[in-house]
Amino acid sequence: MGGASLEHEGAVGIITIDNPPVNAMSPGVPGAILERLAEAQADNAVEAVVLRCAGKGGLAGADIRSFGTPWPEGEPTLRDVIPAIERSAKPVIVALNGYCLGGGLELALSCHYRVASRKTEVGQPEVLLGFPPGAGGTQRLPRLAGVETALAMIVDGTYVAAEDAARSGIIDRVINGDLLEGALAFASERIAAGPPHSLARERTPVLKDPNVFAATRERLERRARGQRAPIACLECVESALTLPFDEGIRKEREIFEECMASPESAALRHVFFAERAVRKVPGIGKDTPARAVERAAIIGAGTMGRGIATCFANAGIPVGLMDSDSGALERALAAIRSDYERRVKRGRISAADAEARVKLIEPIETLEGVAGTDLVIEAVFEEMPLKEEVFRALDSACDEGAIIASNTSYLDVDHLADVVPHRRGNVLGMHFFSPAQVMRLLEVVRTDSASPETLATALALGRRLGKIAVVAGVCHGFIGNRMLEGYTRQVRFLLEEGASPSEIDAALTGFGMAMGPCAVADLAGLDVSWRKRKADAHLRDPSKRYSAVADRLCELGRFGQKTGAGYYRYESGSRAPVPDPEVDALIAEVAAENGITRRAIGADEIVQRCLYHLVNEGARVLEDGIALRASDIDIVWINGYGFPRWRGGVMHWADHVGLDAIHDTITGFNESQDYWEPAPLLGRLAAEGKSFADFDRAA
Ligand code: CAA
Ligand code: NAI
Repeated sequence: MGGASLEHEGAVGIITIDNPPVNAMSPGVPGAILERLAEAQADNAVEAVVLRCAGKGGLAGADIRSFGTPWPEGEPTLRDVIPAIERSAKPVIVALNGYCLGGGLELALSCHYRVASRKTEVGQPEVLLGFPPGAGGTQRLPRLAGVETALAMIVDGTYVAAEDAARSGIIDRVINGDLLEGALAFASERIAAGPPHSLARERTPVLKDPNVFAATRERLERRARGQRAPIACLECVESALTLPFDEGIRKEREIFEECMASPESAALRHVFFAERAVRKVPGIGKDTPARAVERAAIIGAGTMGRGIATCFANAGIPVGLMDSDSGALERALAAIRSDYERRVKRGRISAADAEARVKLIEPIETLEGVAGTDLVIEAVFEEMPLKEEVFRALDSACDEGAIIASNTSYLDVDHLADVVPHRRGNVLGMHFFSPAQVMRLLEVVRTDSASPETLATALALGRRLGKIAVVAGVCHGFIGNRMLEGYTRQVRFLLEEGASPSEIDAALTGFGMAMGPCAVADLAGLDVSWRKRKADAHLRDPSKRYSAVADRLCELGRFGQKTGAGYYRYESGSRAPVPDPEVDALIAEVAAENGITRRAIGADEIVQRCLYHLVNEGARVLEDGIALRASDIDIVWINGYGFPRWRGGVMHWADHVGLDAIHDTITGFNESQDYWEPAPLLGRLAAEGKSFADFDRAA
């Protein structure tokens, strides 16, 4: 259990908070701070107190693990420490090092002074967990930093670096060199200067832009559709201006408690831990050796190859790019360059950075050019014989021990490993999502034969590339695309049965999906999945229902945005989908051919049909061991497919709805529709009254 210690340095009492790894305010910690503070108060030799934390973990705030469990009876909380500091006649100087977040910052804001090392970052990220700061952050921060800065930090959860925090008044001094020495020197100056030592609560918040609340509210209503916490944060900050301090604190607490109890917050806290759980992979530990990737190569410079090459360049890793079609390679290099130019124009990166990154991407003429690379990613057309040929060629061209990864979306990576028998241990899948330089998700597909070193290398590389890497087993489509197939099939069935593309998209974006499935298909290109359906036609069960809606659109050359028409119509130069009566007529025609009587379909049914299908397939993915945990599936759907983070991901959302209710509905669907056989795991969990979270806990 963490605690706090007190030592003396001249007239200064030094309280050190020690609760590794991040000095969270777990039960016992606030109580220990209070006791040490009382000792320092009682000691006549102490004239000022320096509050600091042990190690490099910073002050991460409340212990997120303790949320949802009752706080131990009688144990002091952070909210007892804050008034004790404010009552202190001896000035309390907090010395910050590393991250100072949430309750950690609220503790710091209650002190008389704040000093910080240069690498400190401060923030109120509570909104990202679904609630506003609850220990005075929304009232004290505007009084120190000004309303505009505080509002932006609190509603967006963004961090501010030490120098900027000093400029805005949050930090009193940035310390170069030894932090404790600097803090002690600062304390001596304050002792010499004597009182008054003013507190944030005594100041008046300064508002420069009277329009800032209206403008922020409008932005949040657009961006944070369906969520309560961002608006709740705004309401709290607003009350710093409209209410006296103590009333503002009471209002903040009321709103905090309402939000903390919400499904939105439960979902966001689940995602916080899911993002950390995903890194825990059986057989891979901190001491598993990983190959240093100093140079890489990408084979195939199409949509994905160029995006993946950009990811490497952004991470500062030299990368070769090769394509058998020299025109495709030139187009890729030109597209990469113009993408960087766009980012320079928008002020995202400097021209010098862009130039340096472009230089890291080196065109390779032939496969022999992969010599000297540590890792090669194949991203050629999705055809097994072609990929086999590329793997054979890589076998002779790659260095001993180099890792060969495939970016395949669906194909059998175990089979690809067999193509290069003596390199089997070095093969795996690294499945990026389009656009690769933007999407955070990376599925790392673990083959039967991949060595721990190979897997550890891919996971470490994923982190270096700024991705969230999820380990998946080998099967058709891995975790995400395997589940996607049934989801899009339901979309086509719903279209035939009477829903329009815009009704389907509105129902699912209304639920919170980043985009509707019809708009996504138009963006990605309908021809891609059309080619796949044609190639896989022989695998289809002819006794089951098949909807030809998407095929018929493709037969008309409607491939989506790139041809100006797909499920929707697009005006030249515009990406805005316009409903198209031609599509409605085509769908009605296909439905009539299949003897389907069309009807009005409500948003609830659309959401259930699409999302319950995901849940059912997710249960199979879990039972088959393709995903290590239900929470990994959540991470895949949030980061790869636009599932709303604030709903916690597919499986968490299913737990929230109740697996028994979902199982009952699916069983009902199964009586009259194809593809609805309930997954055995779903049936078992529902019967036992359990959840996917219970499944994860038991694993
Ligand atoms: N509570 C409990 N555990 C926490 C924690 C917290 N606030 N913050 C981090 N941890 C744990 C992580 O789960 C992780 O544990 P495992 O190693 O067992 O997985 C470990 O600490 C290290 O964390 P990271 O892997 O995330 O380390 P990092 O160096 O990448 O990031 C960090 C450090 C920036 C502090 C990041 O952990 C973070 O953002 N933490 C959350 C900060 C936050 O949101 N604070 C506000 C909490 S709410 C609040 O404070 C309001 C209130 O008082 C009521
Ligand atoms: P693409 O069609 O845009 O590009 C493929 C490139 O490979 C072409 O430029 C082609 O000239 C090149 N190529 C073909 N044979 C080659 C060979 N023998 N040697 C070198 N280059 C060769 O395809 P895209 O979309 O980039 O897909 C590539 C791979 O990534 C596929 O396996 C696909 O399933 C997968 N993928 C695609 C996603 C997408 O959204 N497009 C998402 C995730 C994975």
